[in-house]
Amino acid sequence: MVEQKATNITWHEGKVTPEERQANMGQKGCTLWMTGLSGSGKSTVAVALEQVLLQQGKHAYRLDGDNIRMGLNKNLGFSPEDRDENIRRIGEVTKLFADAGVISVTSFISPYKEARDLVRKLHEEANIPFLEVHVDCSLETAEERDPKGLYKKARACEIKGFTGIDAPFEAPENAEITIKTHELSIEQSVQTLLDALEERGLI
Ligand code: ADX
Repeated sequence: MVEQKATNITWHEGKVTPEERQANMGQKGCTLWMTGLSGSGKSTVAVALEQVLLQQGKHAYRLDGDNIRMGLNKNLGFSPEDRDENIRRIGEVTKLFADAGVISVTSFISPYKEARDLVRKLHEEANIPFLEVHVDCSLETAEERDPKGLYKKARACEIKGFTGIDAPFEAPENAEITIKTHELSIEQSVQTLLDALEERGLI
């Protein structure tokens, strides 16, 4: 739990209801939270999904681990504490995007269940739909793909604390959606996510 540092602050309510905002946007915002090993396909599927949603005239936006770590979270590394702070901040950011009416698609390893559950809670408290997506593939497959050559470096001990090698990945137990990227094509994975959004009346 992060301590509330500032004192003497008061929540300032707006004059726009969620319904008015939804009518304006023509959709209800939500968060699709992709979690999975490095190399599992989170970013690839997120990129493809974002493109399809935009082609369908929807408002979607991607928040990607590597990208966010070059800006907002450039002061964070990969210790358990830094990863928790990474996820906490992105949890708040994606909640804001979703609250603004955007379909926010995040792709972060987010290896710790507790941190992911906090993000879920944040959304539930604000009545914003949150869909956890387990982008699932075996470590062997991720390591075989090794798109950035990082597993090779981790095995050679050139990277310490690499998820799946010498740092844990706590797989979700109750994800709304699981996509097995070693069994599905990118298009099939995207379709699974579109179906899930449609079932919930989010597109
Ligand atoms: S998270 O664990 O805090 O959720 P995040 O998704 O932001 O991680 O960043 C993961 C990306 O950082 C990986 O895809 C990889 O490119 C890179 N990376 C660099 N070092 C590590 C590491 N020690 N463990 C995992 N990923 C790392």
